[in-house]
Amino acid sequence: MGADFEQKKEEKTKQIEEIIRKYLPEEKDEYQKTLLEAMNYSMLAGGKRIRPMMALETYQMFGGEGKIIEPFLAGLEMIHTYSLVHDDLPAMDNDEYRRGRKTTHIAYGHAMGILAGDGLLNYAFETMMKAEDYLKDVSKEEAFLLLKRIFDAIRLIASKSGIYGMVGGQAVDVESTEKGEALTLEKIGFIYRLKTSALIEASMAAGAILAGAELEDVKKIESVAEKVGMAFQIQDDILDVTSTKEILGKDICQDEKNHKVTYVTIKGLEDAKRVVEQISKEAISTLQSCNGRNEFLEQLINWLIHREK
Ligand code: IPE
Ligand code: IPE
Ligand code: MG
Ligand code: MG
Ligand code: MG
Repeated sequence: MGADFEQKKEEKTKQIEEIIRKYLPEEKDEYQKTLLEAMNYSMLAGGKRIRPMMALETYQMFGGEGKIIEPFLAGLEMIHTYSLVHDDLPAMDNDEYRRGRKTTHIAYGHAMGILAGDGLLNYAFETMMKAEDYLKDVSKEEAFLLLKRIFDAIRLIASKSGIYGMVGGQAVDVESTEKGEALTLEKIGFIYRLKTSALIEASMAAGAILAGAELEDVKKIESVAEKVGMAFQIQDDILDVTSTKEILGKDICQDEKNHKVTYVTIKGLEDAKRVVEQISKEAISTLQSCNGRNEFLEQLINWLIHREK
């Protein structure tokens, strides 16, 4: 991948960081200040910001302009960050290190870790509904149209992050790990589709919906994102065994520690790497069949195949 792409990605990440910051809760001197600090601690620890970036790029791919996407970028990252804060809790993956610093429950205590996650999830929806504030200067007809898109996007995000999406996938993941189940590839596929793909689908499809893409294209984008999510999770499993704590910003070999069955433990590293590449290429080819083009987004999916963190 060229230096030009790397530079663009860096600039775009910065732009997204700034947008996210704008929507974080202000740490005012109130009794619940510690909660707000814990929420911002996890949000500001960094992270690749892949979900908001994919949402924004998909929005632009379908001609989306203006600010209604902004609160969604922040909201999607809040939902993702809450999922990590809870995923790291002792009752789940029991991790002490994330995004290059101590996990939220280690820094603020277990109870505050749980509440910071709850807070982020709820605040994500409060934030996304602020998209309505950007409709003040448009005509009544335009406002009505945009309000419907905002509603549809929030509805999709709610369902993809819930029991039929991310939360559902996490539940099957922890239950099968607790039982020490020998997972089939079919069941691994189900878990990955829910725990990881669903939120990427929500991000990309929300971008498409908010830009006013045709239903057919929204469906295509969902299938692109499903594949990107699968590849993303398999790559996460690969990095758990091949990367370092310094590069990854989280402890390595955690899946083995938790006796977690992953795509890598079933099929081996080489096959896993091959599959990441194959499904990512499929995703790019479906993306190219949409009405709209975004070369950076294609490069980004390609970059994810060889990502090191
Ligand atoms: C980690 O997500 C959890 C998975 C779904 C594999 P990311 O790899 O996007 O984590 P951050 O946001 O960059 O920290
Ligand atoms: C987590 O998968 C997916 C989520 C929905 C949070 P992992 O448990 O493998 O993610 P990491 O490795 O802790 O980031
Ligand atoms: Mg987990
Ligand atoms: Mg984990
Ligand atoms: Mg992992």
